[in-house]
Amino acid sequence: MPLVTTTEMFKKAYEGGYAIGAFNVNNMEIVQGITEAAREANSPVILQVSAGARKYAKHAYLMKLVEAAVADTDLPIALHLDHGEDFEICKACIDGGFTSVMIDGSKHSFEDNIALTKKVVDYAHARGVVVEGELGRLAGIEDDVKVSAADSSYTDPNQVEEFVRATGVDSLAIAIGTSHGAFKFKPGTNPQLRFDILEEISRRLPGFPIVLHGASSVTPSYVDIINANGGQLKDAIGVPEDQLRQAAKMAVCKINIDSDLRLAMTAGVRQQLMADPANFDPRSYLKVGRQYVKELVKDKIINVLGSNDSL
Ligand code: G3H
Ligand code: 13P
Ligand code: ZN
Repeated sequence: MPLVTTTEMFKKAYEGGYAIGAFNVNNMEIVQGITEAAREANSPVILQVSAGARKYAKHAYLMKLVEAAVADTDLPIALHLDHGEDFEICKACIDGGFTSVMIDGSKHSFEDNIALTKKVVDYAHARGVVVEGELGRLAGIEDDVKVSAADSSYTDPNQVEEFVRATGVDSLAIAIGTSHGAFKFKPGTNPQLRFDILEEISRRLPGFPIVLHGASSVTPSYVDIINANGGQLKDAIGVPEDQLRQAAKMAVCKINIDSDLRLAMTAGVRQQLMADPANFDPRSYLKVGRQYVKELVKDKIINVLGSNDSL
């Protein structure tokens, strides 16, 4: 089957009380780890590409890797631009074969966010591509930009109906307490997602797919492997997985995970290189990283997202 948009997967996810995992891809091993996990779990999946990933691997290489994964797995896979910051990058991805783009106008005023998002929606919809917009601002690190807790803001439910109506977006990313990066939430704190805001938003937008960014849980087993093998990651506790599961049962249809994948890949590579310091074959250590990515994604699909066996 060809690459798909997220329309059908979100409809089924909303009705079925689960969410689709959106995992960031940067190289072949990550693409393979994610899609092999999705195939074993019998789940659709979203592969997403940031501006940084396009710069690192190049658009054409990522496109071919994802096409190879589609052919290899025969799964419904959407290819999505993560955090598109302007019209030009969205246009390049739409013209270049992506089936979904995010225009992240969350740093702009409400009016400018609407105008920019609408411009992308008009261009995308005319070409059969779907669009994710964002309202509210997450804390954390995103593409080298650090948003402090003071500069972050929860999504205002009073704005969502006008935003969706005026822009025509297909899904909406909201800020309810998640945060980007692998260092979120200090040990000893008690992160709590604002389910009251999510509920109010879904009451105002019945049946409309909501997206959560910054949803990594900083899986302790991988952090421990990294630190036991020469790494020096600070302690963090991530977003509690039971709260993500709860959100997936509500209006949240897409949950973004990147940092957890990076930790899994790094854990595999570090462990393998420390175990055999004479090893200089990238295939042998990347293979372990790929296996950890696969295990992580399968666990997320089954125990957090709930999208397993939904095909
Ligand atoms: O939310 C941002 C993603 O984690 C992408 O990170 O820009 O370093 O590829 P990146
Ligand atoms: P994490 O840093 O929590 O993995 O978030 C990823 C993300 O939101 C990508 O858009
Ligand atoms: Zn994000």
